[in-house]
Amino acid sequence: MPDANILGIESSCDETGAAVVRSGQTVLSNVVASQIATHQPYGGVVPELASREHLRAIVPVVRQALVESGQTYESVDAIAVTQGPGLAGALLVGISFAKALAFGLEKPLIAVNHLEGHIHAVLLEQRQRENGELQFPVLALVVSGGHTHLYLAQLREDLWTYRNIGHTRDDAAGEAFDKVAKLLGLGYPGGPIIDRLAVHGDPRAVKFQTSQMKHADRRDHKRDSSRQVIVEDEGPHFDFSYSGIKTAVLRYLETQRLTAAIEARRQALAEIDQPGLEAVLGLCDRQTLNLVASFQRSMVSDLVLKTLAAAREYEARTLFVSGGVAANQELRATFEREAGMQGLPVFFPARALSTDNAAMIAAAAFPKFLRREFVAMDFSAEAGMALR
Ligand code: KG4
Ligand code: ZN
Repeated sequence: MPDANILGIESSCDETGAAVVRSGQTVLSNVVASQIATHQPYGGVVPELASREHLRAIVPVVRQALVESGQTYESVDAIAVTQGPGLAGALLVGISFAKALAFGLEKPLIAVNHLEGHIHAVLLEQRQRENGELQFPVLALVVSGGHTHLYLAQLREDLWTYRNIGHTRDDAAGEAFDKVAKLLGLGYPGGPIIDRLAVHGDPRAVKFQTSQMKHADRRDHKRDSSRQVIVEDEGPHFDFSYSGIKTAVLRYLETQRLTAAIEARRQALAEIDQPGLEAVLGLCDRQTLNLVASFQRSMVSDLVLKTLAAAREYEARTLFVSGGVAANQELRATFEREAGMQGLPVFFPARALSTDNAAMIAAAAFPKFLRREFVAMDFSAEAGMALR
């Protein structure tokens, strides 16, 4: 197998990333410019601001990734870029830059699905360890600010294929973390803050019900109209729903009359430049910490229960958990414990590779490089791109 140094570019949401990865396996550099400070005052990502920040960051970030990797524009073998899903204006910044580079340097251009990138963030390290063959099918939970998806992944002759067997019907899990943190006046992004606060509260203090939807078996619904037979190509679906728990938190705040204290915390935090854990902790009473811990416990239990039920149903041999929320300590520990009891090996990316980055894009591009799956210059962003 020939070695290939791929320059990856990622700009789908609020991080501008560039990385050089050798043969889908060795990270030579991985540079991420975060826009958190830009979006923080708004409590969420503002699309226009995201595009503007990507424009500002893209050239220096790519240059830095090349310098740190010891590579040059001329020495890399291909350019890979995120095509979607994501914010259209944000995606276009990375895509336009990648196209210009590929055209000017006469290098092949590879389009990568962001969700496939998250899955390959796990493979990156799995390949590095080289400790035996991966057992298929792999069940991958991609859980981030924009997505909560379950995929069954297969690999045949460097061709990865994915089948979606579950997704969120409303909010993504990371979105629920962010919205609950916002409701509690804790700042943005909510996931990392809740993760660190939750260990200081009692997770059994408040009872939350995540919506218990029974999985639908789509075999019953799909018919081939020409032959009038049931097409058995789709099995049960394991869907998620997280808007209800956010509303339950809101109700709790109202009935427990916590709103004045929350407003006071919000104002106090707004006056501190980049507040650390100690500052946030000092502004939280026991009841708030218990609420945070209970919310996180409910989220984690629901994600783990549904994923493991899907793993049993589809007889998955390996489990991957990736995306921003995969950085969560309680989620990792619970998956390791529960999957372990089911005899299912579970892999996560390192924390730096859990949230958005370009190393995962360059890694996902490698099998496509081997298959010479290149894109023409007229390809464009696909904001709602599905993974197959
Ligand atoms: O993968 P990512 O960087 O961007 C998307 O593709 O969405 O994920 C960002 C999301 C945010 O919602 C953030 O709050 C959440 O991941 N997140 C976490 C943690 N770190 C980031 N959620 C829970 N616990 C964490 N430690
Ligand atoms: Zn992502």
